[in-house]
Amino acid sequence: MTRYVAAIDQGTTSSRCIVFDAAGAVVTQAQREHEQRFPRPGWVEHDAVEIWHNVQAVTRGALDAAGLSHADLAAIGITNQRETTLLWDAATGEPVGNAIVWQDTRTDRLVGRLASDGGQDRFRDRCGLPLATYFSAPKIRWMLDADPELQARAADGAVRFGTMDTWLIERLTGRHATDVTNASRTMLMNLRTLDWDDELLAAFDIPRAMLPQVLPSSHVYGEAAPFGGTPVASALGDQQAALFGQACFAPGEAKCTYGTGSFLLLNTGTTPTASERGLLTTVAYQIGDQPAVYALEGSIAVTGALVQWLRDNLGIIRHAAQVNELAAKVPDNGGCVIVPAFSGLFAPHWRPDARGVIAGLTGFVTKEHLARAALEATAWQVYDVVDAMNAGSAVDLAELKVDGGMTASELLMGFQSDVLGVPVSRPTVAETTCLGAAYAAGLAVGFWPDVDSLRANWRVDRRWEPTMTDSRRQAGLRQWRKAVARSLDWVD
Ligand code: G3P
Repeated sequence: MTRYVAAIDQGTTSSRCIVFDAAGAVVTQAQREHEQRFPRPGWVEHDAVEIWHNVQAVTRGALDAAGLSHADLAAIGITNQRETTLLWDAATGEPVGNAIVWQDTRTDRLVGRLASDGGQDRFRDRCGLPLATYFSAPKIRWMLDADPELQARAADGAVRFGTMDTWLIERLTGRHATDVTNASRTMLMNLRTLDWDDELLAAFDIPRAMLPQVLPSSHVYGEAAPFGGTPVASALGDQQAALFGQACFAPGEAKCTYGTGSFLLLNTGTTPTASERGLLTTVAYQIGDQPAVYALEGSIAVTGALVQWLRDNLGIIRHAAQVNELAAKVPDNGGCVIVPAFSGLFAPHWRPDARGVIAGLTGFVTKEHLARAALEATAWQVYDVVDAMNAGSAVDLAELKVDGGMTASELLMGFQSDVLGVPVSRPTVAETTCLGAAYAAGLAVGFWPDVDSLRANWRVDRRWEPTMTDSRRQAGLRQWRKAVARSLDWVD
């Protein structure tokens, strides 16, 4: 009997599989990290074959751990790190090189050249995105430039492009396809037609023949051969999946996911809304042949990655969770502010030339203060995104639904509510990214009847109310703004 739905989350640092029951509760899960390759400063790569092996291993591992088999699954959903770009040989299915990860900034000169002819926002109207190293199109262009043979092979369809959803869908089902949410992060999809856009393809000189078919997010993509032909019935970028898993189905509902980076998405309904303040317009989801739903997004490149940096590069903590223990030992940041602009600054600034700074250092500052400043940097970056969202809308955000690894930090979530001045709510199922992919897959195969039945599954686990005085908030904000100004002003 098919009692469950499995979701595969192919993330930036690891791949996971979580199996859910009809109430949206976690039944079993498995996770495996993959190698982060940094061949040069600013470059970040993944081995897609390693990822494919990990995805199969965690899916088998999750099922085995609970004594389940693929016959217990009604469907498999896929969610993934977005924008990360891979090319592979259509005949053999072998990658032509490593995947270039979303955080990678090697395309900064290319992006600068394109922006010098019409500005950073020259394609925003079509694709909802500013020209930035973050998105896939410049990464594809870079790969095609790096090997002169590839352009001709791509034009013949002998070389294929895909983001990680596409890579997994093809390996699982044999079909070269992507979903509208992932396609909306490439800079090649027209937000209104939901198809590849000829002008954008021409601007980047990318042949249409190498691109996957664009399909709805909740849709049967095919049968997963390695898992007994279980239908692969959804694909969504991980941040859109989290919005779905948080049941943000109505315009005005928003969530923030705190992972390697943090991503705040606001459901804006069935018409794309433009932002004047540096937010992205993106597709939130499309269920079957229903109209697509759009979102405004504030993308922050580095939040949890800063905690990893404290662990791996400075060695001041041994496990990521220790950052809280350290930070809790001091009442404040001791005057120290960190702006973790490791990949430049994303929303709302979109400044690839920004560099990380640690400001306000004195002999008084300890590793405890640094730990606290690292958590505060996450909250202030989210503040900047909310501020940009509020500036462009008639109604201010009244509450923020949160999820992701860093929401385990009471200190961070309390501080987040304090600086935003609104309540912050974490649901009982913190694994909203996987849950969203499972929901979308379950809807496609009739495991769940409609989104209303999903909304009923959302329950609050913990809610933080703001307690900080306004004068303290303003003082913290002034400090943060000064540090950001230095970060933006670093490169000559
Ligand atoms: O846009 C990048 C985002 O999708 C990455 O998310 O959770 O894998 O760091 P995550």
